[in-house]
Amino acid sequence: MGTHTPAGTGAPAVALRPSPAPVPAGRCRALAAEADFGEVLTEHMVTARWTAADGWHDALLEPLTPLRLSPATVGLHYGQSVFEGFKVHRRTADRAAVFRPWAHARRLAASARRMALPELPEELFVAATEALVRQDMDWIPEGDDRSMYLRPVLFASEAHLALRPARACLFLLLAFPTGNFFGASERAVTVAVSQEYVRAAPGGTGAAKCGGNYAGTYLAQEEAARRGADQVVWLDAVERRWVEELGGMNLFFVYGEGDRAELVTPPLTGTILPGVTRDSLITLARDRGLRVTEDRVAVDRWREDCAAGRITEVLACGTAASVTPVGRVLDGDGAWTVGDGTPGPVTSRLSAALAAVHRGEAADPHGWCHLVVRSGRKPV
Ligand code: COI
Repeated sequence: MGTHTPAGTGAPAVALRPSPAPVPAGRCRALAAEADFGEVLTEHMVTARWTAADGWHDALLEPLTPLRLSPATVGLHYGQSVFEGFKVHRRTADRAAVFRPWAHARRLAASARRMALPELPEELFVAATEALVRQDMDWIPEGDDRSMYLRPVLFASEAHLALRPARACLFLLLAFPTGNFFGASERAVTVAVSQEYVRAAPGGTGAAKCGGNYAGTYLAQEEAARRGADQVVWLDAVERRWVEELGGMNLFFVYGEGDRAELVTPPLTGTILPGVTRDSLITLARDRGLRVTEDRVAVDRWREDCAAGRITEVLACGTAASVTPVGRVLDGDGAWTVGDGTPGPVTSRLSAALAAVHRGEAADPHGWCHLVVRSGRKPV
């Protein structure tokens, strides 16, 4: 059994115990070419355990297998659980680029702190990523619109039902091939403003990537889908007028056109997820000389500024959804169109700029791409 050691830290090495009979590369490639988001997991996973007594230990890459958990597992009852989502893009048959793993490691640690979970050392997060990507490299799809999505989850695995933070936790890193989150890549989506429900309140967990933030939006999402919308727009919990985010994506409003376009995105006040794609787009836009302001946008202003032609485009962004144009907004009995309802030039330009960095077709001045190279080949 080999190991993969996190560079220069006290974090435990990842022991390597891969499948003795790996899925042939041709079969991996066929599955990777077709699978939708979250549908087909790759062949391996990384696990690591934490206890209050021993800290992090037993980091292991092993074949994907069901877990054995006590029915009294804390994470199942009280939702003490956080996760991440990030992507790896194929460069060649033996090289792939993970996008901003250190940023995701930091955000997982921040989410863990908020949910009274132990922080996974960033070096262990990245070592686990390298081990899994190297092992399951044949599952990374080809093609501009496809990639492999990495899903770390950290949850309370102790069996006890008292209300206190768990003293035993489990970290899992899974992977799956994926295409465009919303189907056709250039489709502008319809969003519906939630009047009835709230996603996050000041002082709550809105900035943490915890499971409950997502489960809590499903009912609104189902209701919005019945009205023909793809996603819900969440407003602030206090005044119910400031636009915060979509269910799982951040929003940008584009004012004006061409080189004078300005982007406005809601500020990170604690109720919004600090998106890594949001941060990347702010940087890419500023690199291109576009002005980006972090400011509140009221839902009424969104409607008025679209009607007056001041808002020309709106885009949603997230790891899963990448950069997605918003074409239409439903709000109560009203509705309005953003621009002409189709993807606009600023959205397309930023989307292309981000994709070029992912694929290694553009310079990477911010050092976002973390290259992983495979050493051995397996049978085709
Ligand atoms: C992501 O964009 O990666 C997310 O985590 C949102 C959702 C798919 C869970």
